Amino acid sequence: MKIVVATKNKGKLVEIKKLLLDLGIEVISQDEANINIEVLEDGKTFEENSYKKAYEIMKACNLPTIADDSGLCVDFLNGAPGVYSARYAGENASDDDKINKLLSEMKNASSRAAKFVCCACLLFPNGDKIEARGECFGEILNEKKGTSGFGYDPVFYINEFSKTLAQMDLEQKNKISHRAKAFLMLKEKLKQYLN
Ligand code: IMP
Repeated sequence: MKIVVATKNKGKLVEIKKLLLDLGIEVISQDEANINIEVLEDGKTFEENSYKKAYEIMKACNLPTIADDSGLCVDFLNGAPGVYSARYAGENASDDDKINKLLSEMKNASSRAAKFVCCACLLFPNGDKIEARGECFGEILNEKKGTSGFGYDPVFYINEFSKTLAQMDLEQKNKISHRAKAFLMLKEKLKQYLN
């Protein structure tokens, strides 16, 4: 079986390839499938966005397609930035701009609890669908700590490890992240589906 990953992000592709290696599935990128579509992520939930991305790419290539959507949800901000995490400080804003906006919105926060969420969706041309959701819980610091990772990692602190995600190496982050959890669950569901 061949599966297309709806992403232009090489890192994500490598991660997903590694994860599905032992299922004997050939994993290719949307570029390798010659699909050059930019899907508008205008859903109200992570589930809607991952489904929409998978659906549009799957329709274009007629192959099983995996897509995901993720973001940061902060309790004090009623779940914001949520599905707007990438565009929180405007379309072309840097990670620092996004973090600065977040910290200013949280100046007087009574709670700093937050979670990262990832929803992954695998759609088949026959209409079958496998979905999985992963969450990673932490709190938002007042200042950045650490330099690895991307996005909001430098201010996302995990008590259990006494570190931000940006203070972890990729191997450690990939064991506990929302994305790792979602894809591991997706893999388990896919195994059952194939049996
Ligand atoms: P997307 O799922 O690739 O569209 O990511 C949405 C946005 O959520 C990213 O641009 C980041 O700002 C944020 N985000 C998602 N996952 C992570 C993560 O693991 N660390 C830090 N930020 C993340």
